[in-house]
Amino acid sequence: MATKNSINVGIIGFGTVGTGTARILLENADIIKRRLGVPVILKKISDLDVKRDRGIKLGDVKITTDAKDIITDPEIDIVIELIGGYKPAKEFILEAIKNKKHVVTANKALLAVHGEEIYAAAEKAGVTVGYEASVAGGIPILKSLREGLAANRIESIYGIVNGTCNYILTLMTNEGRKFDEVLKEAQAKGYAEADPTFDIEGIDSAHKLAVLTMLAFGTPVRFEDIYTEGISKITPIDIEFAKDLGYKIKLLAITKMVNNEIEARVHPTMIPGDFPVATVDGVFNALFVKGNAVGNTLFYGRGAGDMPTGSAVVADVMDIGRDIISGSGNRMPVAAFRERSQLKIRKMDDITSCYYLRFSAIDKPGVLSKISGVLGKHNISIESMIQKGRKEEQAVPLVMMTHEALERNVRVALDEINKMDCVGGPTMVIRMEQ
Ligand code: NDP
Ligand code: HSE
Repeated sequence: MATKNSINVGIIGFGTVGTGTARILLENADIIKRRLGVPVILKKISDLDVKRDRGIKLGDVKITTDAKDIITDPEIDIVIELIGGYKPAKEFILEAIKNKKHVVTANKALLAVHGEEIYAAAEKAGVTVGYEASVAGGIPILKSLREGLAANRIESIYGIVNGTCNYILTLMTNEGRKFDEVLKEAQAKGYAEADPTFDIEGIDSAHKLAVLTMLAFGTPVRFEDIYTEGISKITPIDIEFAKDLGYKIKLLAITKMVNNEIEARVHPTMIPGDFPVATVDGVFNALFVKGNAVGNTLFYGRGAGDMPTGSAVVADVMDIGRDIISGSGNRMPVAAFRERSQLKIRKMDDITSCYYLRFSAIDKPGVLSKISGVLGKHNISIESMIQKGRKEEQAVPLVMMTHEALERNVRVALDEINKMDCVGGPTMVIRMEQ
């Protein structure tokens, strides 16, 4: 066993997650030392703003505005990147790796787009990159996929992985509150990304799905191959219809193996109210993972915030610390598989799903048969239908739920229907999972 009296770390980025991470390292130092056998010492923190009070007693921790001061410090074993974004985060991480430092990051945006380059650089340098905090905040889902479920062929993952969206949808559903107002609240609580369109347009969920898919199936993933649709078009009407039908609308990140191809998609999804993830509310995240040996498993916890995310960051630090202490570097490949394969991500047009379709139909005789005629022509079979209210010669919501249909057929049919005179606006489409 190599002798090492401490694991020394530096944090770049003293924002929400950086503050939580520092707090855990300092306030839980005793339990961390007891678990590891040696202390984890927070030597330095760098941030652009070194004056703001973060409410933590930092003791001997050195504060600097220069990240390089951490990346080049020969005493630092692990560089923790918590600034987010692509630039300069990528350069900092690659430089740290080049300097033979292990890295821990929560930066899913960076990993989703440049992960392969970073994993390859780390493998080459013989160091580790820990990224548990990049998906579902405090839930140890990546460790579970890599280790606890390592014996399984993963069949599917259905995840609520964006706390901000789940918070917004929950308050819109339970309290009938407005989208903008709830988004502001999520931002104030530190859940939202620096650019909240990443959250509400599903991009943040897609970043996380890229990491999950890569780890679950042992394949590189091109971020642009993931179909991404957010929640900004969801209206109170759809939330009400979903309730009436016994469903809930959640922003789901879905990855599954279908005939040796991967479906990887993020979109608002109607799920039955009794499906386990339907009851996951507020900022909480949940992932429903099916493995061929284990069957169904469910992971639940806080997906955002300073302390839950800091919990995952520090767990990675401790894992790497154990490897440093025992001299067993590179025990776990950074991308979890020693032998990876190149799997195809199925085009969205080729997936099948059941659909909730809300037409804005002019209330007059013959309209229903026109719409259902087009659906039938494109091989889309209607499972049930609701029309609420009567306003002769005016547009009213007409909802149809379909049996399983091919996405391509649904798009072609809706293009045709949306152009019809008896339809007063674009049709709302929400995919359903049973
Ligand atoms: P914040 O914006 O709160 O913190 C980032 C900090 O980094 C800011 O204080 C920023 O300073 C500082 N910073 C920016 N550039 C530099 C630089 N060149 N050198 C040193 N410091 C710099 O972000 P979060 O803490 O919310 O997020 C950090 C990362 O964690 C992101 O990748 C995010 O996606 C991820 N994450 C966040 C979660 C959350 O709940 N917030 C949950 C899971 C992951 P300034 O403000 O002055 O620009
Ligand atoms: N903005 C993200 C969310 C932070 O709301 O889930 C956690 O990754």
